[in-house]
Amino acid sequence: MPADVTPGTIPDPDRRRLLNWFLGTSFGALLASIVYPVARFLNPPEVETAATNEVDAGAANDPEFVAKGYKIVRFGSEPVIVVRVGETDFRAFSAVCTHLACIVEYLKANQIIHCNCHNAQFNLQGQVVGGPPPKPLPPFGVHVVAGAEGSARVIVSRS
Ligand code: FES
Repeated sequence: MPADVTPGTIPDPDRRRLLNWFLGTSFGALLASIVYPVARFLNPPEVETAATNEVDAGAANDPEFVAKGYKIVRFGSEPVIVVRVGETDFRAFSAVCTHLACIVEYLKANQIIHCNCHNAQFNLQGQVVGGPPPKPLPPFGVHVVAGAEGSARVIVSRS
C-alpha cells in the first residue's frame, strides 16, 4: 500500500459502480413515470365502440328483469341500464352516473334509478330528482320485438 493512501479514503470501484447504477436507474424510472402518463394523455388508447346500433338485452321475461327489475348491458364499452317498468314497458339509459361516473342501479321498490356513490336519484325519465348529478342520464332507445318461438326480446338502440 502506498504511504499517502489510508484505508477507507480510496473509493471502492465496485461500490461506486453500484451507486452509479442505482442513481441511473432511479433517474430512468423517474423519467418514465413522468413521460408515460403525458404520452398516454396526448395519444389515448382507442375506446371500443359498438359495432352495431342495436343490442339484444335478452328476453322480456328474463328472470333478472323480473326479479331485480333491471339489467346492465354493454353497448360497445358503454354500460346501459335497461329498466323493466311493466311487462312490455322498458326504459334504457346510460348506466354511467353524470356526477362522477359510478354505475347506477335500479331500486325496484322505489322505482328510482340510484347511484350508490353519492346517493343520486334519477326518475324513470332519467331526470335527476336527488343528489349531486348535474345532468340527466342520457337515454337509449328500447323496444320489445317478437323473438323466436314467440318469446319477446328487448332491443336497445341509440336514440
Ligand atoms: S357518482 Fe353518482 S352520485 Fe356521485
